[in-house]
Amino acid sequence: MKPLTTIPKHLAVVMDGNGRWAQKRFLPRVAGHKQGVEAVRNLIRVAGESGVTCLTVFAFSSENWKRPEEEVTFLMELFFKALREEVEKLHTNGVRFRAVGDTTALSSETQSLINEAQALTRGNSNLTLNVAVNYGGRWDIEQAVAKAAAAGRSAAFAEYLSFADQPDPDLFIRTGGERRISNFLLWQLAYTELYFTETLWPDFGEPDFKAALAWFAERERRFGKTGDQVRETTQKVSA
Ligand code: FPP
Repeated sequence: MKPLTTIPKHLAVVMDGNGRWAQKRFLPRVAGHKQGVEAVRNLIRVAGESGVTCLTVFAFSSENWKRPEEEVTFLMELFFKALREEVEKLHTNGVRFRAVGDTTALSSETQSLINEAQALTRGNSNLTLNVAVNYGGRWDIEQAVAKAAAAGRSAAFAEYLSFADQPDPDLFIRTGGERRISNFLLWQLAYTELYFTETLWPDFGEPDFKAALAWFAERERRFGKTGDQVRETTQKVSA
């Protein structure tokens, strides 16, 4: 028998393939990032409608600074513009916005916008949208170690990580054909189901999302237990 809840509560996404999407069309790489924002907008809607309560997208990694300067500048401006244009709509739809990462490296305008968006949407509860920006899983562990040391480790280690108040991701999706984590949520992905698709991020639409959900629904999540133990508990719960 299938588990009772087959929709992931927390979905984490690596949106890969923007550059290739553009290059296939003889467009500059940044055109792929622009189209990628449309795919994020669409995912926020369909994920919310499907019952996902927490969505984390990787917009800019600690390592993305190594890209050509024009691309870095474009990505930063794209994030700023998208947030400025979308924040009201996110708020109307009951979305709580969070930026996760070392935001101190972003422009002061972007930091102010982030603070305003977080303050405006903090009471919303339909969907939590975490945008990882200047984020890296190793950065998160390092900053948590520093905080824990400064606090004399007065709480469980995970309490010092960026996602302390959120459940670990149930499903991870990476588009663009590569099968790696790329320094995303290193601590939090310990028991996450990992889904990889060849689809390039700007092409990732509702049918692709539904395919990932269908795949997830077939997984048996054991969290270190045996399959028999898991099935026994599921049968008891549903009896
Ligand atoms: C990876 O594709 C994608 C990124 C590094 C940036 C992702 C950003 C967006 C989708 C837009 C901004 C997001 C928000 C939330 C406003 P790639 O460039 O590595 O593609 P490639 O592997 O084909 O080169």
